[in-house]
Amino acid sequence: MSTQPKATASRSEEVVRKHKQYLWPAVTNYYHEPLVADHASMQYVWDIDGNKYLDFFGGILTVGVGHCNPKVTSKIKAQVDKLQHTSTLYPNEAIVALAEKLAQITPGQLQKSFFTSSGTEANEAAILLARMAGQSYDVVAMRHAYSGSSALAKSVTAQAAWRKSGIISVGVSHAINPYCYRCPLHLKYPDCGVACANDVENLIQTGTSGSIAAFIAEPIQGVGGFITPPPEYFKIVYRIVKNYGGLFISDEVQTGFGRTGKKWFGIEQWEVTPDIITCAKSMANGVPVGATITTAELAGKFQGLTISTFGGNPVTSVAARAVIEVIEEENLLENVHSVGGYFRKKLEELQEKHPLIGDVRGMGMMQGLELVRDRKTKEPAPAETAELMERARANGLLIGKGGLYANVIRLSPPLNISKADVDEGIRLLDKSLGEVRI
Ligand SMILES: Cc1ncc(COP(=O)(O)O)c(C=O)c1O
Repeated sequence: MSTQPKATASRSEEVVRKHKQYLWPAVTNYYHEPLVADHASMQYVWDIDGNKYLDFFGGILTVGVGHCNPKVTSKIKAQVDKLQHTSTLYPNEAIVALAEKLAQITPGQLQKSFFTSSGTEANEAAILLARMAGQSYDVVAMRHAYSGSSALAKSVTAQAAWRKSGIISVGVSHAINPYCYRCPLHLKYPDCGVACANDVENLIQTGTSGSIAAFIAEPIQGVGGFITPPPEYFKIVYRIVKNYGGLFISDEVQTGFGRTGKKWFGIEQWEVTPDIITCAKSMANGVPVGATITTAELAGKFQGLTISTFGGNPVTSVAARAVIEVIEEENLLENVHSVGGYFRKKLEELQEKHPLIGDVRGMGMMQGLELVRDRKTKEPAPAETAELMERARANGLLIGKGGLYANVIRLSPPLNISKADVDEGIRLLDKSLGEVRI
């Protein structure tokens, strides 16, 4: 045995070392020196070395009502001690209470839920059902989409980095997306007549069998960089999808449960009633649950048997229901609208001050900043984006990143933050932007 004294690694270094040693390298971390989170409370996170951060990313839009919100965790703890798991082979009070609540908050006739453990599975179930319910196998998805980590979800996803080796998009065609800041058709809204939406018809006529099982889209593209369509986009696409026999699937994994303000689901902002809604992430504030919600008629068209062992687990069901109750009791749909509007105004002021910010977009507590080296050429600024992430972290603010060119800052604080939290976040962001030197 060596008697040499070892230089002691800090607690965070030790965790990072083991993370590298024992996890797949594909599981990447943010930051040059990864942040090892230790504990958190509402809008704050502390790392293992005792540093405190204001969290404006929420574990990738997942901590919707604040970290370890006691109104949610108390119910989780009680349920863990009462009944932790049954599988769906036995009905339980928690699963039916959640499903009943979802039937109340979803738009249209979406009354029946299928529960899983993730957004990926929720989307898988939606597409599978759509293919069973109609005559067609073809699915139309959108470029820049992110749909999940399974083989099918990756084939729906439309960003190269997430589609490496082994992904075959048989039966999935990708429509150009309403990315107004970098219009794929080089047009300008509103003179464009929302040509990207109308192009979906040509895509169906040329890239599919001529009828489709479904169209799947995120109301605001999340991983794609909070790409927000013009108000008419989804209404036009909905009409086309219906003309060609398709179901409309709204992937609400990021926009779901109030994040866009006033409405429970993002698609409601665009005045379209989908046939299927999928959600996960913040629906249970960090407890793993996914849901695929549809009409009674469509749910009845699922052929054969299906099961998700953990889907509708009593603990995850209780957590998701508690999140809905917090949103209702604290009137958070309004808070997201008003504080989110204030947040947006402050971000636009930052844009006036910092030329690096080419575009500000999003809705409610889902705001994106697209960073560019030159506002005229719109050259993406990925290195500056990475540097801004580092500076923000050093200044005590957690923010996220996204976009095909890795140059979009994603800001998604909890739905229950106040204007004072926004002021603090903006102050830290302003300081950090001022420190980007690349
Ligand atoms: C819009 C969207 N759909 C689906 C998923 C997949 O969810 P999960 O990672 O829970 O499988 C994600 C994840 O980021 C997402 O953003």
